[in-house]
Amino acid sequence: MKEINVALTGGAGQIAYSLLPRLISGETFGTDTKVNLRLIEIPQVVDKLKGTIMELIDCGFKQTGSLLATTDIKEGVQDAHWILLVGSIPRGIVVDGKKIEERSDLLRINGGIFTGQGEAIGELAQEDAKILVVGNPANTNALIGRTKSNNPTQSWFAMTALDANRAKAQLAEKAGVDIASVTNMTIWGNHSPTMYPDPYNAKIDGVSAVEAINDLDWIENEYLPLVQQRGKAVIDARGASSAASAANAAIDTVKAVDSQTTEGDWFSAAVPSDGSYGIPEGLIFGFPLRTSDQGSVEIVQGIELNDFAKSKIKVTTEELLSEKEAVKDLVD
Ligand code: NAD
Ligand code: LMR
Repeated sequence: MKEINVALTGGAGQIAYSLLPRLISGETFGTDTKVNLRLIEIPQVVDKLKGTIMELIDCGFKQTGSLLATTDIKEGVQDAHWILLVGSIPRGIVVDGKKIEERSDLLRINGGIFTGQGEAIGELAQEDAKILVVGNPANTNALIGRTKSNNPTQSWFAMTALDANRAKAQLAEKAGVDIASVTNMTIWGNHSPTMYPDPYNAKIDGVSAVEAINDLDWIENEYLPLVQQRGKAVIDARGASSAASAANAAIDTVKAVDSQTTEGDWFSAAVPSDGSYGIPEGLIFGFPLRTSDQGSVEIVQGIELNDFAKSKIKVTTEELLSEKEAVKDLVD
């Protein structure tokens, strides 16, 4: 059996509870790969991980390798191949007497977490480590972590797969087709209400989703805000931020990065911009991505963007630039 070291922050959180069994069951890294899992938590809750580890053992998966709980980020990420940065404060909870409502509120609270984590990853994880940031505000947290890691051979991603899955589900429902018929979904920009879940380049059975649905009013005034605000709608409905669907999207992202993309399709995640589509270099931006047969992840080029798309992409770019400005002391 092959072996892989996987580190995860926020191991005692609700996303982790859905995610962990699926990381060591063979589903994510393959049935021929043993997964050594390092769970990283803050001191106040690290003891709870003893119970989580008992449960993971009790799952009885043959792909389960060593299981470790630690408060030490350095111990956690040492030699890690994949690092899932989930640990951070979600919206909807009260911190210092103030209800955390918007991602901007999270910037300063969570941004600080990613400096030390980035440094440890850059220094100690594998040279070709892949890092997926789930904790919000995911794009800017990834920007901070990647900057502090100062290690250009490692690959940083921020998660937009949940938004892509939400967007596909809405289009499929409206068109009355199976979700598998919806392909080529891009979430341009930020994992926030400014994201642009591109309906023009998404396809339903090979045809532009806008053409297939043929209801521009619904696309612009219902579909877009619904996808952009879905995170908040889930928080309002269940009193906690999405967890099972977020864990599922994290697994989708790891699998999409690690396996060759189906011919003609692409997947969605935020990566450091190389200037493609005029996006400022270095910004962690949601793009259409493909994994090549050699395993490299590339931004899909040549996608046509109409004026509507360009105006939406401008808004989300500006938001990411203002988030960057707000944490400039952490990304210098
Ligand atoms: P949660 O509060 O249930 O769990 C978060 C865990 O992180 C807690 O156990 C906490 O102790 C831990 N933690 C905090 N600081 C840490 C640190 N410095 N090191 C290690 N662990 C630390 O929250 P959750 O519902 O699991 O959500 C986690 C994050 O994911 C939130 O920021 C949430 O907004 C975000 N999220 C992102 C997406 C996305 O699509 N990108 C989707 C859903 C949720
Ligand atoms: C989501 O999209 O469900 C999460 O990012 C939670 C949130 O704060 O919206």
